[in-house]
This record gives sequence, C-alpha cells and structure tokens, in this order.
Amino acid sequence: MPDNQSKDLQLVLLGPPGAGKGTQAALLARHLDIAHVSSGDLLRKHRTKGTELGNKASSFMSKGLLVPDDLVIEMILEHINYQESSGRVLLDGFPRTLDQAIALDAALPAPGITKSLCIKVSETELIKRLGGRFICKDCQAPFQGSGESGMCDVCGGQLYQRDDDAPAAVQKRIQVYQDQTEPLLAYYESQGKLCVVDGEQSINAVTECLLVALKPIGT
Ligand code: AP5
Ligand code: MG
Repeated sequence: MPDNQSKDLQLVLLGPPGAGKGTQAALLARHLDIAHVSSGDLLRKHRTKGTELGNKASSFMSKGLLVPDDLVIEMILEHINYQESSGRVLLDGFPRTLDQAIALDAALPAPGITKSLCIKVSETELIKRLGGRFICKDCQAPFQGSGESGMCDVCGGQLYQRDDDAPAAVQKRIQVYQDQTEPLLAYYESQGKLCVVDGEQSINAVTECLLVALKPIGT
C-alpha cells in the first residue's frame, strides 16, 4: 500500500436516490482503501434483524421518508467510533439533514470532513434506474435488472427489489432529497469542501471523475 493511503480521509458521498452512491462507494473503497459506511445498508440490516431501531425505522423507510435524526445520528456515530477507527471512512447517505451534518462535524476529530462529493443525475434517469434496480439480500450490492439467475455477481446471494423502489416511494424520496438534503450542498460549499460530478456517464467514468476530484488532497 502506498504511504499516502495511511493518511486520515473522511469523505461524504451525496446525491439523490439512484445517483449511484452505493455503486461508487464500493469502487472507491477498493481504490482508496477506505471503509464504506452506508446509513441505508445499516438501517436495512436492522430491519432484517428486527431490532428496536429497525422496527422504529421501518415505516419511515418504506414510505420514502427520512428516519428521525436522533436515531440515525446515534447509529452512525456509534458505528464510526467503535468499528471504523482507522481514520479513513467514506459515508454513503449520511449526513442527509443539516442537523446530521452539524452532529457529524462536532463528533469528528479536527479537521473533520475532508471532502464532500456529490453525484448529480437528472430526475428522469433516477426514476429509470430505480425502477430496474435489484439488490443482493446478503451484501446489498445493487444491480440493473435481475440478471438471468436472480443471483448476486459479487457473493451469490439472492436478488430482490427494495420496497422503497416502488414508484410512489421513489417520488417521495426525490422530493425529500430536494427539500432536506440539497441544502447540504451550500453547507459544504461554504467550507470549500464540495465537489459535484456528472453521474450520467458510465460507472467507470464517474469513478474516474471522483478520483480526479480527490487528487488535490493527496488521497
Ligand atoms: P439509502 O439506502 O441511502 O437510499 P437512497 O439515498 O435513496 O439511495 P439509493 O441507495 O436508492 O441509490 P444510490 O445512490 O446508492 O444508487 P445505486 O448505487 O444503488 O436510504 C434508504 C432509506 O433509508 C432512506 O429513504 C431513509 O428512509 C433511510 N435513511 C438512510 N440514510 C438516512 C439518513 N442519513 N437519515 C435519515 N434516514 C436515512 O445505483 C442505483 C441503480 O443505478 C443501480 O441499479 C445501479 O446498478 C445503477 N447505476 C449506478 N450508477 C450508474 C451509472 N453511472 N449509469 C447507469 N446505471 C447506474
Ligand atoms: Mg445506496
């Protein structure tokens, strides 16, 4: 591993539902040797296990609404503190509100978030992608279409469609993103930490743009 890969690196991945945050986070995690922490994946695991948090979060998630801040903040900060102590973390889907961003800034050691990367995709394309998306029930890798076998190419798990990928929930998630998460772009821009990339290119081209955006900070 090159020396510079041991440097602290705390990244936030922003973007609307279906922008490709999970897809790109998995690729960046490999390129940058960084821990991928997805708030959505963690919440879905809690739902599957039927934990108290999972039960509380469930109805918000299926309607396409945000899970209340106090629940999500506690879950993510615990996860970062106790399981991701390497100082290299890529947050996918968190923060999603101003209160979450402020709580994260308060919890991270200085200098806090290194960069906030936003993947921009048009609403028409988001709806198309989410309508055709299947997810692995075991590793949560996303796929376009169910594949011939309905099995995950990564781990062999069974593929399924998320309940919040139903058309009404997708519309709600897009609206919630615009109302509650888009204001974070100005928050990070005012700190000189925002970088926006075009998410309507091939998956590899988007990864390349993200890596180029991170070059100046010596990733
Ligand atoms: P979460 O799981 O974070 O969902 P989301 O933000 O709605 O985003 P998605 O996971 O749907 O999309 P993605 O951007 O990861 O795209 P993907 O890579 O899969 O959150 C779910 C719910 O949990 C929330 O609604 C909320 O209830 C709750 N929650 C989570 N975090 C929370 C928080 N912080 N606060 C409160 N509540 C929270 O790609 C999509 C599809 O497109 C795939 O099929 C993929 O193969 C394909 N694709 C990807 N890139 C490309 C490309 N370049 N070209 C063509 N296709 C592509
Ligand atoms: Mg995702």
